This record gives sequence, structure tokens and C-alpha cells, in this order.
Amino acid sequence: MADKVKVAVLISGRGSNMLALSEHKRKDPDRAYEIVLVASNVPEARGLVLARRLGIATWSLSHQGMKREEFDALLDSELRRRDVELVALAGYMRLLSPWFIERWQGRILNIHPSLLPLHKGLDTHKRALDAGDSEAGCSVHVVTEALDDGAVIGQARVRIRPRDTPESLAERVLAEEHKLYPVALEQYCAALREAEAG
Ligand code: GAR
Repeated sequence: MADKVKVAVLISGRGSNMLALSEHKRKDPDRAYEIVLVASNVPEARGLVLARRLGIATWSLSHQGMKREEFDALLDSELRRRDVELVALAGYMRLLSPWFIERWQGRILNIHPSLLPLHKGLDTHKRALDAGDSEAGCSVHVVTEALDDGAVIGQARVRIRPRDTPESLAERVLAEEHKLYPVALEQYCAALREAEAG
């Protein structure tokens, strides 16, 4: 059987999606992916502690005071050093440089807390409520240079309730993220291997 797709998960904070990806793999080692690295632009990110506890290698560097491309070049070196094949953004709250995105074309996935193409960018839950949307959700998409704009490969929906706040909505959407992202990553990695096999 083909080797697992080596995945690096990029985080900036608590890392609950990273945990979901890791847990999905733990339940069935036959999954098409393996997480070989958790990397962050925030050295104190809680998710790094969780990753280390799981025995996953971590890398972190504060981006502060660095040019975007300079930071991304160091990140890229670390990914190459570990033979990473696919990058999964999971709450990575820093824009990637066009240089990096070009270099990893078709090899970066992101989870975004809205039903794309609705509500790209930040404050998605507040914006869904302000817009009077009847449903919210999350999307996994391929990362391209335009923000939150690449092909959507999976979505999950939640109904908006009359008394929802951005926080209550975020909680229900997050629960869906944790189910959606592992399945979408698995499918994408399996398809990558199939494409390579011709
Ligand atoms: C998640 O809700 C994710 O969708 C969102 O940040 C949160 C990270 O939580 N990502 C974005 O807003 C990206 N634009 P986590 O660190 O617990 O996975």
C-alpha cells in the first residue's frame, strides 16, 4: 500500500481542529494521512502543548518583526526537512505569502468557519447573525492566493437559532468542524495518492 501522505498542521491557538485530525488518525492507523509536524507562528499556542503530549513533532517561531516571505521561507525549510507533502491550516491566523502558496499549490487545505463563499475573513459568526442568515457552518477548501477563495472540498451546516450569539453559534459550528475536517483531509489525501498512481 502507498505510504501515508505526510501532513503538517499549522495552528496559531488552541488547536482543537488539530486534535480532531490527530484523533481521527489514531482511531484508524490505515487512514491515508499521518501528521508529522504541528507548526505555529505563535510559540505559546496552546495547541503546541497538546501536540507534544501526543508525541507529534512541533516547530514554532514568532513572526513578529519578520517579513512575511522571510518567515514563510523558514517554515518551508522545516516542512521540506520533514518531507511534508500537504499542509493543513487549522486556525492558522496568518496570511501566507504568494511565494509559499505558489510553492505548495494544491497542497494546502484550510478550514474556515462559514459557508463559503459567504463571510470570508474574520468575525464570521457575528456577520452571519448580522446578515440574518438562517444557517451557518464551516468549509474546507484548497488555499489559493485570494483569501478563503479556493475550491471548496467539504461543508457542514448548522441551523441558526433565534437566540444565538456569535459564541453559541461558534460552539456548534466548531463541533461540526471537528467532524468535517478529518473526513475532508482523508478524502483529499486518498485522492492525491490515487492521482499519483495514475
Ligand atoms: C476554528 O474555528 C477555525 O475554523 C478558525 O479558527 C478556529 C481555530 O480553532 N479559522 C479561521 O477563522 C481561519 N480564517 P482551533 O485552534 O481550536 O482549531
